[in-house]
Amino acid sequence: PTKAIILVGGPSRGTRFRPLSLDVPKPLFDIAGHPIIWHCLRAVTKVQGIRDVILVGYYDESVFKDFIKDASKELPQLRLQYLREYQALGTAGGLYHFRDAILKGNPDKFFVLNADVCCSFPLNEMLKLFEDKDAEAVILGTKVNKDVANNFGCIVSDEHSKRVLHYVEKPESHISNLINCGVYLFSTDAIFSAIKTATKKRTDRPRMVSYPSAEDVGSYNLDVDEESSGNEILRLEQDILSDLADTKQFYVYETKDFWRQIKTAGSAVPASALYLQKAFQSQSEELAKPSANILPPVYIHPTATVDASAKLGPHVSVGPRATIGAGVRVKESIILEDVEIKHDACVLYSIIGWGSAVGAWARVEGTPTPLGSHVESVVKNGVKVQSITILGKDCSVKDEVRVQNCVCLPNKELKRDVANEVIM
Ligand code: GDD
Ligand code: GTP
Repeated sequence: PTKAIILVGGPSRGTRFRPLSLDVPKPLFDIAGHPIIWHCLRAVTKVQGIRDVILVGYYDESVFKDFIKDASKELPQLRLQYLREYQALGTAGGLYHFRDAILKGNPDKFFVLNADVCCSFPLNEMLKLFEDKDAEAVILGTKVNKDVANNFGCIVSDEHSKRVLHYVEKPESHISNLINCGVYLFSTDAIFSAIKTATKKRTDRPRMVSYPSAEDVGSYNLDVDEESSGNEILRLEQDILSDLADTKQFYVYETKDFWRQIKTAGSAVPASALYLQKAFQSQSEELAKPSANILPPVYIHPTATVDASAKLGPHVSVGPRATIGAGVRVKESIILEDVEIKHDACVLYSIIGWGSAVGAWARVEGTPTPLGSHVESVVKNGVKVQSITILGKDCSVKDEVRVQNCVCLPNKELKRDVANEVIM
């Protein structure tokens, strides 16, 4: 059998997702009508023979309880489980720590997915390459612009055989524009032997973490240091992947389809656009029917109320119980639960947080950035500003007020026009 592991991280991560992560853990944030990790699970259901999915992270147990309950009902073919690291163990540390649970049922291979990416997850294509090449590991790669490549793990591969020759995590200088998408397929034996080698290397070689002073050297206690310095942290990218490239049958599947990281809160807007586009292409029943006032793709939750004269889309999602008044214009935006947008307001390139209210004739707007650019800020008057305007939970924008390229923390009231600001 094959399993899937989803790395969900923990509360100390997702800081760039503020202010939205103040109110919901990033993996559960709704994009195109579903939590970010729901999209990963949906992709997993398309692979035949996967029953077990393990979410690994260091959020409190209670965080994923409801999600797992709902998702298990909706995707009954999956058996979902959340395993909690007692502290951040790194992207491979959790795999090692929970190896018994992963090995249960003797899977010969398993997928590992970073929770914070948005893509078409071509898992079946990766599986095919894995089998064709008799591989021990397959990584999903995509080509990005040279100027952003170094923000990711970079892959040097043999053009013809697709074999990974070299892997460097976030290199200092340019080595390749083929980057790591954060999706892997590993043979169980190969990955655990690589993890073992990495752990062994570390204990064999005394670490130089605390640089003891001359008089301390005599009493320098390695064991204590190993304990307290988080020796269990093991990073897939830095500690394992380059070794895999050197010693194992390691291949890359390059996707030409969409791919995007979900790091900043603003990146939820392009990610949502990409998932909406995908749903539209696959003629998903979930989307709102196109009409003169609905420019597809648009998602409207069944409990939301949208006035017939409001014009929505493209790339808009409207959450549960939101109300959108007459003459409103919404484009390239995410409207979350219980939001109220009053008549003739205009919301462009923005995220409107849970329970927020936008007054009549108000304008809340960001600035577009190209969908595939991986860039999330724009320069205005020589200053880098947030391209997507974000209102946190329970904010209110008064009638006729204009909010432009701002991030607004929860519970704020905006009574005058603001631009290019973080409102705290
Ligand atoms: N369980 C667990 N424990 N998950 C973790 C931990 C941890 O200690 N640390 C990170 N994660 C999860 C995050 O939630 C995320 O889903 C994923 O692992 C990777 O997060 P980061 O470690 O922050 O890496 P990154 O996102 O900057 O870069 C990674 O992803 C890029 C693609 O999005 C690398 O794999 C890059 O090479 C890659 O290009
Ligand atoms: P589409 O091609 O249909 O999207 O129209 P467009 O490109 O001409 O304009 P768009 O709808 O993108 O909106 C441009 C501007 O017109 C927005 O910034 C709004 O201020 C305004 N606008 C357009 N339609 C409406 C509307 O129905 N209500 C309100 N309040 N403003 C609107």
